[in-house]
Amino acid sequence: MSHFEQADAAASADRDLPTNSEVLMGDAATPDHSAEPPRSPRDFRWGAATAAFQIEGATSADGRGESIWDVFTRTPGRVLEGTTAEVAADSYRRYGDDVALLATLGVDDYRFSIAWPRVQPTGAGPANEPGLAYYDRLVDALLAEGIAPVPTLYHWDLPQPLEAAGGWLNRDTAARFADYAALVVDRLGDRVARWITLNEPAMTTLQGYALGTQAPGHALMMGALPTAHHQLLAHGLAVAAIRARGSAEVGITNNHTLVVPATDAPGDRLAAGAFDLVYNRIFAGPVLTGAYPDLSAFGLDAMPGLADGDLELIGAPLDFYGVNFYNPTRVAAASDGSEFATAGLPFEPVEFEGVPTTGFGWPIVPAAFTELLVSLDRDYGERLPPIVITENGASFPDEVVDGAVHDERRTAYLAEHIDAVRAAIELGVDVRGYYLWSLLDNFEWAEGYTQRFGLVHVDFESGERVPKDSFEWYRELIARERVARNQENGAA
Ligand code: FCB
Repeated sequence: MSHFEQADAAASADRDLPTNSEVLMGDAATPDHSAEPPRSPRDFRWGAATAAFQIEGATSADGRGESIWDVFTRTPGRVLEGTTAEVAADSYRRYGDDVALLATLGVDDYRFSIAWPRVQPTGAGPANEPGLAYYDRLVDALLAEGIAPVPTLYHWDLPQPLEAAGGWLNRDTAARFADYAALVVDRLGDRVARWITLNEPAMTTLQGYALGTQAPGHALMMGALPTAHHQLLAHGLAVAAIRARGSAEVGITNNHTLVVPATDAPGDRLAAGAFDLVYNRIFAGPVLTGAYPDLSAFGLDAMPGLADGDLELIGAPLDFYGVNFYNPTRVAAASDGSEFATAGLPFEPVEFEGVPTTGFGWPIVPAAFTELLVSLDRDYGERLPPIVITENGASFPDEVVDGAVHDERRTAYLAEHIDAVRAAIELGVDVRGYYLWSLLDNFEWAEGYTQRFGLVHVDFESGERVPKDSFEWYRELIARERVARNQENGAA
């Protein structure tokens, strides 16, 4: 049985879930989400995630410096509709409302990010006290509600002065990051039990430096590779700084996609392998095994920028491995004359046929999530620490009608993907938590405000928050899980 088939079998064992092949063929019936799903392990943690630049606004408040995203959003043509994040969801001022929403939701954990330019406006030097004080207040407000704060130290908002000095192309940025991490951990480490170093270094390398579709907007193609190494080095140095302070758990968040060859033709399979390398393996391999995968597909015999001792830092054991998953990717050999072939890339993403999509146009294939988790477990074995799903969710064009948002498609996406995680657990993958993206509608990077991912609708003019139907669905799911968990703990 292939892993796909095993995943399918586990997912539909006692419920009527669609199989992967049915989903890929586009003829799956809508599953019934009212049925009682199987329970998650006793210590499983439920959460919601956000990121500083996407929700905070107040971009010049309290001495915050400028980040690469402030500059990028101001550059004409970079962000859809030319919007900026100067106000965004206004969470810097309304964080109390957002903590109250989290309390109503009943989450165990809240994953948010700390804006480096609030803490170090120039990316170096002593802490900017008012900036750190904001996160101090946020952490205390969460703890007062019994919610564990799970901060990400870097979710893409590099201080602009560091970009002026070469950004992630410059090895020194890794050392700057470790200094910044130390300032934050010194301040919050007495109350934070779980740290995430970086969010999705693959996207910074691929979109930020290779293609230029995200900040800082460089189109260097394979010339972007050193940014992968410097980010991973930053992660390794930060892990050492966090450990030196005795602070509890630490992990990284990588985004993963399941790469599916467009056909069985050797050219498509090779292309899929190369895509898997740049998207998944270059970022997971060194962190989980202390070594880069073979890069000869790109004519390289070593990772550019690699120095003695780097891999020991990068591969230091972690307490958990954060996985962001949204969709699988279908990959073909780059067709002659395509922009990919012209750029010297061997692959080209192509659309799945007959598969439902989110508002973003991303294919919805929940069984691919199970398969991805099973393949991480298979590929990294003993070296893989427990997994925490640090992001998963979907955007749809929601509207408030009579004070309510009926977002059935989001609820269906979430239910199917949570079931896919459960199927992976049943197959033996150690997954300890699920953080949904996102608590709030927010500034979706180069898409501006056109993609709404929130459980809570945000009116970006007034700041008003309206919980969507999916919020109530997730609240009930967590409440059911908690009752079961308490019963088991009581019985234990
Ligand atoms: C991820 C990002 C997150 C959000 C989601 C939709 O790649 O980490 O900030 O934009 O995608």
